[in-house]
This record gives sequence, C-alpha cells and structure tokens, in this order.
Amino acid sequence: MADKNTFYITTPLYYPSANLTIGHTYTTVAVDALARYKRLQGYDVKFLTGTDEHGQKIEEVAKKKGLKPKEYVDGIVADIKKLWGQLDITYDIFIRTTDDYHEEAVKKIFQRLYDQGDIYKGVYEGYYCTPCESFFTESQLNEGKCPDCGREVHTDREETYFFKLSKYQDRILKLLEENPDFLQPESRRNEMINNFLKPGLDDLSVTRSSLDWGIKVPFDEEHVIYVWTDALSNYITALGYLSDDDSDYKKYWPADIHFVGKEIVRFHTIIWPAILMALGEELPKQVFAHGWILFDNDRMSKSKGNVVYPEPIIDLYGVDALKYFLLREFTFGQDGSFTKEKFMNRLNSDLANDLGNLVSRTVAMIDKYNGGIIPEAKEEGEFDDQLRGLAISTPTMVDSHMDKLKYSNALEEVWKLISRTNKYIDETAPWVLAKDEDKKDRLDTVLYNLSESIRIISVLIRPFMENTSNDIWKQFGIDKSEMTTWESLSDWGRLKSGLNVRKSKPMFPRLDVKEEIEKLDEENQKLIDKRKGVKKEEPKVEENYITLDDFDKLDLKVAEIINAEKHPNADKLLVFKLKVGEEERQIVSGIAEAYEPEELIGKNVVIIANLKPIKLRGVESQGMILSAEKGKALSLLTTLEDIDSGAKVV
Ligand code: MSP
Repeated sequence: MADKNTFYITTPLYYPSANLTIGHTYTTVAVDALARYKRLQGYDVKFLTGTDEHGQKIEEVAKKKGLKPKEYVDGIVADIKKLWGQLDITYDIFIRTTDDYHEEAVKKIFQRLYDQGDIYKGVYEGYYCTPCESFFTESQLNEGKCPDCGREVHTDREETYFFKLSKYQDRILKLLEENPDFLQPESRRNEMINNFLKPGLDDLSVTRSSLDWGIKVPFDEEHVIYVWTDALSNYITALGYLSDDDSDYKKYWPADIHFVGKEIVRFHTIIWPAILMALGEELPKQVFAHGWILFDNDRMSKSKGNVVYPEPIIDLYGVDALKYFLLREFTFGQDGSFTKEKFMNRLNSDLANDLGNLVSRTVAMIDKYNGGIIPEAKEEGEFDDQLRGLAISTPTMVDSHMDKLKYSNALEEVWKLISRTNKYIDETAPWVLAKDEDKKDRLDTVLYNLSESIRIISVLIRPFMENTSNDIWKQFGIDKSEMTTWESLSDWGRLKSGLNVRKSKPMFPRLDVKEEIEKLDEENQKLIDKRKGVKKEEPKVEENYITLDDFDKLDLKVAEIINAEKHPNADKLLVFKLKVGEEERQIVSGIAEAYEPEELIGKNVVIIANLKPIKLRGVESQGMILSAEKGKALSLLTTLEDIDSGAKVV
C-alpha cells in the first residue's frame, strides 16, 4: 500500500493529434490544478500524463503523410509537450507508449497473463470500430453504430488472442456495487453496471494481426498487442512496474485518481481493473469521469469551424484566464457548452471586475493614504468580524469541495470572499476615513484587513491560477514564506505590516466582448489555416528579390565558439561566447535541442555581427548564429576549410 502522504494522479494518454482543442486541455488543466493543490497541502504528488501512440489510426495518418509512424508521432508529441509547456502543466512524468521501457513492460505483462492462462488464442468475428480500435458484438452496438463513439463499424474476422475478461465479471460487478467511490460520478457507475456488467462480459480480443504499428506479442510476432491493453498499462509501467527499478511503483501505486473523459470509462473501470486483478495488483482508488466541453453540441465539431483551440486564447488572454474559465464555468462531472461570449463575460465579471478591481483599488488606496506601506491593524470596527469570519472559513469550504473534485464550487467560494472584500471597501469607505485625521487608526485597520483578505485569496487561487497569485504577491511585496503556505490560511493576521505595495497595470483589463470575439475568431482561424497548410497568397518571386545593397547591409562573419553553456532560464537556448577576430562577444541561440554545448567548443560558425543586440530570457545576445533547418531540428552553418575567426562572409 502506498504511504499516506503520496498522491498519484493521471490524465488519459492523448492520441497524438495536432489539433488538441480546449476540450482536450480540460482533463489536463483539471489534473494539474489538483496536483498543485495537493502539493500545497504537503503531499508527495506524482502527476502522470503522456501519449498513446500505437494503432491503426496513427499508422494510416502517417502513411497518408508519407512518414513512418514514429516520425509522424515524434513531431506531434513535441507539439503536445509545447502546449503543456504553454499551459504550465506541472506533470512529473510524460510517458510515450513508444518508450522502450514501456514496451518492455507491456510485453512482460502480456507474457505473464498468457503463462497463467488469462490470455489464450482464438478467432474473432464481430464488428470493428476503427477510430476506437475496438471489436463489438451485435448486441453491444448502439443502433448499428459504435457504442463508444457513435461512428460506423464494419464486420471483421481474425485470429486473435483473447483476455479472459468474463472470468472477472463478478469481481468487477462487486467492485462497482460495493465501492461507490471507485467510479464517480454516480451516473457513470449505473451505466457500467446496467449496460455492460449485468448483460455479461465477453472475453476481450487483445491482439491484432492486421496491424504492424504496435507492440508485438513476445511469443508470436504476427500479432500486435491491442492499443488499449498497451495504453492502460502505462499507469503502472510509468512507475517502473516489472522493471529493474520498481521503487516508484511500490511508493505510489495504487493511483489515487485516474481522470478520464466519459467516453473511456468502460476501459478504465472494467478492462483495466480486470487486467490488474489478473496480475494480482491493487486497483486504483478512484476513476473520475468528467464531462465533455461541447462546441455547438459536439465534442469536436471541427467541420463547423466553431471549435476553439487553446493557443489563441492563451496568447490573447493568458493561461490563467483559460484555466479559470474551464474550471469555474463547467461542472466537472457534466457536459457543458463552450461559447466565446461566456468566456469573455467571465473574464469581465469575475476576473476584471471582481478580482482585478479588488486588487487595484486596494493597492491604490494604500498608495494614496499610507505612502504605499501596508499599515498595522489598530482600531477594530463594524464589518471586520464578518470579513474575517468568511476569510477564515473559506479555506475549509474550498477543501471540502476539492475533496469531491468540485472545482467550480471551490472557486465559487473564493469568489464569495472576493465579493465580500469588495463589499467591505464600500461599507468602510476608506476615502471618507482618509479625510479625518482622527480616523487614521481605523483607516489603517481597514487597509490592513483588505490586504490580509487579498493575501488569503492569493493563496487560495494558487492551485488554479499561479501567475495571478504571483502577480498579487508582487503588488503587495509578499515573498514566498510562512505568509503564503496552505496552513497559513487558517490564521487571520499572517500578513506582515510594513510591506511596500507596488502599483502595476491591471491584471485583467475589461474587454469589449464583440471586438474580442472577432479578434479571437481571427486568431483561431489563422491557426486552423496554418494547420491545414492554407497559405496566404505569396508575393511574386520578383517581388521577393533583394538587391546587393540589401545584402551588403548584413555583416556576416566567421566566429569561433570559445564557450557554450545552457541558458539559465530556457531549455531550448544555449549561451555562446565567441571569438570574432580580436573581439569577443556573446550570442544566445535556440539550438539546445540539436547539440550538447561541450561538443561545439572550438567549432567555427557564421554569425550576423551587426544585428541589434537584444535580451533573450534575460541574457544579452549580440548577434545571431546562422543555422539551417533540418526537419524540425537545426544544423549550424560552418566553413569547409578551417578559417580564422573574424573573416567576412561575402
Ligand atoms: N488515448 C485514449 C486514452 C487512453 S488512456 C490509457 C484517448 N485519447 S484522446 O486524445 O482521444 O482523449 C484524451 C482525453 O481528452 C479524454 O479524456 C477525452 O475525454 C478528453 N477530451 C477530448 N475532447 C474533449 C472535450 N471536448 N471535452 C472534454 N474532454 C475531452 O481517449
């Protein structure tokens, strides 16, 4: 049994798709918020995510693109990681089902199940859904279509290995009936019991012979292991299950929660527990099925063009706005419709009006009435108890909602405190107190109470909106300290007086909804076009010519690399010291993924020497090192002969 202080949570593995919508980000954003929340509470959290890269669909798409499946997925996985980077997702492990260690462990799992008689060879005849990569019997179909995704199925017959799922039926039924917490929300449990378990489970086909792109059955290379067996196993292979080092498995398994979208509940609450039962391993403590974010009643609706991608939202409104909206607007276990109006309205009302205003009004008043210094609380007055009472009780309410994964309710409680604090400003009217010297002590108390309430709010929002929380700390001169821990929330008065506030630009400016929707549509469409490969009309070739005069403006020179090291704040950047003739200069270049810094020392490269210096992530760069694109990577340009540095490139 994992020790009590650990907390292991997982997202489903994503299919490598270049078009992850804000719907896809929903699961990951929710898991990330819980991971952050649990860390703040002092848990040793393991947060797993990754990609599910095998199977027929991927094989087909790669083929269409003229790429090997691995080449194809490598590019997409890099994009997915980039997106999680943009969203500041704090995963601890990113597993790819193409990782060697995973493939090895899956083979061992398969072999073990075969050796003990839980897997046997047979022939499958049934209906196959290619997108879901699943076989169904006629009775399982829903009006002749796939019961999971509703798409067309086709009949198929093939030799296959079966997993004895039927053997575990009674135990799984008992698991779901006797442990209401195992699958939440409740409605999903009834669906599994009544639609799948009570009618009876058939053995499950767990290999495909018509497919190449997958993990081969270790004792029969004609067969590839079914994607779901492969993918589900990730939850334990990621912890080193059946590897030389299974210490993480011993420490973190069983998972505290597997988060899944509602369409993949059957895999996680019937097939996955059966595999674990067969392996004699503990079962996850909970599977939580969230609803879908719908775009015009559809999960994807790409064709209708109303699907929204996360990137333009992040670029235009910031990561915190997106995270807040996703977790606040929708009830986590249910479906919800996304509209841009709802998004903009939430930004205006909750973020700009409520939170943004509270912070900027308070900072402005401390600035104006107390020279920018947070005063000490001195004279108690009316309304103080009410504000304090709510501030102290809010964390308990947040905890109780978070225990049930009621993100929206948790945030609602914080916003009640924000509203109460805003109301406190109106009730105490500091601008009136400021006019009367005798009221200075009371004014100080009001300003302190406002700041203290904001401190509590800044910690409470931290799991959901870390940037905003940081921004508030900066404005109130708060450092990460005993004032900012989760435990600090139980005490009123932890904020030190005497800190200096700093006015800053509004955290969430008010938006003109109509204008912003147009802007967002435009950016979203640009991204869709880019992904489809639609190009804006290029200027004619002649118009692209430059003259020799233009070329002469560039001061290209040979430079020798005398030192190279990783950029302190950016994984992709290297910082170079270069010798250019007698001169030495520093250039920052984005080629950390292509080279190890040490291997470059002593090499000659070509630089643009007269490019205006800029700071890249805080480090000055005096020029640019030229490199050629090599697929997604880069290759540095150099000279054929060894030439002295400083030579001009003509
Ligand atoms: N690869 C499988 C999972 C294997 S887990 C061992 C898969 N991948 S997926 O890429 O299709 O979906 C990943 C997650 O994104 C799922 O939980 C799915 O429900 C979620 N979402 C995709 N679109 C969504 C919405 N529009 N709304 C909410 N979640 C959605 O399934």
